[in-house]
Amino acid sequence: MGVMRTKSIEQSIQETDEPEYQLKKKLGALDLTVFGIGVIIGAGIFTLTGRAAADYAGPSIALSFVLAAVCCGLAALCYAEFASTVPVSGSAYTFSYASLGELVAWIIGWDLLLELMLGASVVAQGWSQYATLFLDKLGITVPEAVAPGSAFDLPAFVLVVVLTALIAIGIKESLRVNLVLVAVKLFVVLFVIIAGLGFVNGANYSPFIPPSQAGEAVDGIQAPLIQVLFGLEPTTFGVLGIVSGAAIVFFAYIGFDVVATTAEEARNPQRDLPIGIIGSLVICTVLYVATTLVITGMVKYDQIDPEAALATAFEAVGKPGYATLIAAGAVAGLMTVVMTLIIGATRVTFAMSRDWLLPPALGRTNPRTGTPVRLTLIIGTVIALVASLTPIGKLEEMVNIGTLSAFALVSLAVPVLRKRRPDLKRAFTVPFSPVLPVIAALISIYLMLNLSVETWLRFIVWMALGFVIYFLYGVRSSRLARKDRDEPVPAREPADA
Ligand code: ALA
Repeated sequence: MGVMRTKSIEQSIQETDEPEYQLKKKLGALDLTVFGIGVIIGAGIFTLTGRAAADYAGPSIALSFVLAAVCCGLAALCYAEFASTVPVSGSAYTFSYASLGELVAWIIGWDLLLELMLGASVVAQGWSQYATLFLDKLGITVPEAVAPGSAFDLPAFVLVVVLTALIAIGIKESLRVNLVLVAVKLFVVLFVIIAGLGFVNGANYSPFIPPSQAGEAVDGIQAPLIQVLFGLEPTTFGVLGIVSGAAIVFFAYIGFDVVATTAEEARNPQRDLPIGIIGSLVICTVLYVATTLVITGMVKYDQIDPEAALATAFEAVGKPGYATLIAAGAVAGLMTVVMTLIIGATRVTFAMSRDWLLPPALGRTNPRTGTPVRLTLIIGTVIALVASLTPIGKLEEMVNIGTLSAFALVSLAVPVLRKRRPDLKRAFTVPFSPVLPVIAALISIYLMLNLSVETWLRFIVWMALGFVIYFLYGVRSSRLARKDRDEPVPAREPADA
């Protein structure tokens, strides 16, 4: 059947040589690890930690971070195997085109767009809040009419426009700016851990897992789907609170998978992509667990600020100057997250348009910059408008569900591709396949079930939209569909495309 058609790895690799769609190969292992850290550490640790500790898990939020890291670690192994086998732009989308067929590939691509574009908009709004706070401390006031939360969020808009321009100029240039900002961000996170250690009060850790209690705030469509499905009384805290917390702080890890979207720009992807993916994840996990232990040790969980936990923890212990430094770190840190998510979104749509599942003319690279400039400008404009005009700042859960569904599918795709193409050279392999990939998929699905009914409803609408677009456009116009019909498929797109 047409929608199950797969694209051979050889064909994917061969198409990367078409001059019209060529990206420059400039990135090494260190670049990729820095790229990963740049996109991982962001709004998750700077803002979500407080909300999740205060509402769901108390000090045991550290365990939520460990659980989310286990889920991501298993998925990271699967991503690394794919990236070392199919070093082609597009990440999970390209992997599944090679293994599970066109329809699943399209769905994953559609999920990734939810992750990357919505993620960029959500974090841009978070950035805008920290930037306004920081400017305020410098004595500059952003006018009410264009401040975060107003009808037009000017700082978020300006941020996305500037970053888009930078990305259009070139990936190496963007990553150079990224490097400086990542250094600032790492410094601030380490500062929080080291400076905070002296203020830890052991009494704040007890109870480490607060007893579960009926959740007042969680009713109806805000309750986790799993509780509604099994008719459970909605609860927070306790062991279930750790799992709900993990489904939320999962957001803090999103990004290591984005490393795989740059596969074609890596000089030695088979070796360097697994290093970049797994390396950035390990470094961030250690930093996250340390940070959460310090913060919940500094402030009793029921007094943690759900908006800006890191900065306020230092105000609470009489160090407001530290709070300003942390706000500055968040401004630098969140900027790199937005930039990297925009790069990821352009690379996924690039791969989709090269396969003609999206109009092929969109994906052409600019010969001078070696980047898909047209697509970058379109994606940047959409994100700038969503980030400045819509109240999406609290939609992290939507980003999580999009990413978790892609993880589940990619994990299942690993054993499928091994069975279909045992002959391929795999520089990196997941140990204990198919057991580990299946466990990875099950944990991802379990975390998805712990997200709210509201999030599921929104997700279903998004997926329905994806299906409509595929069946109206992609199913007939993809390169593979044309080949199936024996139409000549020129390397160049037709002039009217
Ligand atoms: N992991 C990224 C963040 O926390 C998306 O901002």
